[in-house]
Amino acid sequence: MRRLVVVGQGYVGLPLAVRAAETGWRVVGFDVDGRRVKHLLAGESYVEDVASSRLAAVLASGRYRPSTEARDVAGFDVAVVTVPTPLAEGNPDLSFVEQAARTLARFLRPGATVILESTTYPGTTEELVGPLLEEGSGLTVALDFHLGYSPERIDPGNPVWGVHNTPKVVSGVDAASLAAVRDFYAGIVEETVAVSGTREAELTKLLENTFRHVNIALVNELAMFAADLGIDVWEAIDAASTKPFGFMRFTPGPGVGGHCLPIDPSYLSWRVRRSLGHSFRFVELANDVNDHMPDYVVRRLTMALNRRRRAVNGSRVLLLGLAYKRNTGDARESPAEAIVDRLLRLGAEVRAVDPYVVEEHVDQRVARVEATPEELQAADAVVLVTDHDCFDYPAIVANAAYLLDTRHRITAGTVEHL
Ligand SMILES: NC(=O)c1ccc[n+]([C@@H]2O[C@H](COP(=O)([O-])OP(=O)(O)OC[C@H]3O[C@@H](n4cnc5c(N)ncnc54)[C@H](O)[C@@H]3O)[C@@H](O)[C@H]2O)c1
Repeated sequence: MRRLVVVGQGYVGLPLAVRAAETGWRVVGFDVDGRRVKHLLAGESYVEDVASSRLAAVLASGRYRPSTEARDVAGFDVAVVTVPTPLAEGNPDLSFVEQAARTLARFLRPGATVILESTTYPGTTEELVGPLLEEGSGLTVALDFHLGYSPERIDPGNPVWGVHNTPKVVSGVDAASLAAVRDFYAGIVEETVAVSGTREAELTKLLENTFRHVNIALVNELAMFAADLGIDVWEAIDAASTKPFGFMRFTPGPGVGGHCLPIDPSYLSWRVRRSLGHSFRFVELANDVNDHMPDYVVRRLTMALNRRRRAVNGSRVLLLGLAYKRNTGDARESPAEAIVDRLLRLGAEVRAVDPYVVEEHVDQRVARVEATPEELQAADAVVLVTDHDCFDYPAIVANAAYLLDTRHRITAGTVEHL
């Protein structure tokens, strides 16, 4: 049975590891986070897209083994790296990728394949990962082992598109590497799409995310203008969406969040600036607009309270949703965090409802409550930040004196939209 190591058991690595185990691989899920591995060993999934029952089944089959021990990495045929690629003071922080490559290098054998999936700037696989693997193993890339890049397209919480049915872009540093990478994914996903080099594959992911980032910024900026002009931007978006070609629907919101949009485009602009000396103006503009959205939400709230002769200072504000995305518990880089921060600094009493987001990700000064009629009635203003399906929208409308709906989920007389 062929052996796979997935380095990093997070939102990307865990679904891949479980899927591979289900398709017959013997998988080690390696992670440095002891708490996460403990949950996995107990059959408890912390990723929405992997039901605990699936995890329990692959554990019971003996084909999936989570581990924090580097020596368990030994003997792999294929290793996939799915570790974080955050920003540190606005610049790419590839320390996790470097660490993962060093760990793999110790156990790399001739004929094995290493694939990077973490989102990163073009050039990382060849310029950073390849040399680290060579240095730590004494082997030569392409000659002794295969190396490739395959971007992850996972959309957490999406019930239609998962690991197995989303086409997977694949690449390698040479023809044999591409063949090995393609061969690996062909067994676990329905469709692979080969590109000629790892840089093209790395750029593909950044293009996809920058495209979304820029288009979201476009509608966010439009929404702010339209509100000032007294025009319903949502109606215009709905109408434009009836065009069968040449338009793609994006909607305004309280800002972008998660691991991708606020971060990935900056990897690309960093690379462009470092290699070419240019600024990537679209990305900088989109960052500027999207980063400003939490401030805009607070401004709209301030104006609404002002109309009722109230100040933000001393008002009770109830936030509905803290996650960056509907029906998920992922609060990383969530705009709710910036909104909370602004409101607290203005002296508001902030309370929040989110059944998915765990305590440790939320500012301690925010009271976590449930959306009871009393709680809704006692708030001077209610803000829908994340439109989880589990919220009881009729009850929210019936009990909130004022509601700012940043997602256009509800239509009622007491509700304002962005
Ligand atoms: N979450 C998404 O929706 C998504 C989508 C596409 C791409 N990506 C990209 O995939 C990568 C991983 O993202 P994620 O959301 O899965 O992150 P995550 O934080 O959920 O998981 C990463 C895991 O890697 C572990 N880790 C860190 N360093 C390690 C090391 N040296 N050895 C072993 N484990 C290590 C961490 O403990 C963590 O559990 C990032 O580059 C991200 O940009 C994420």
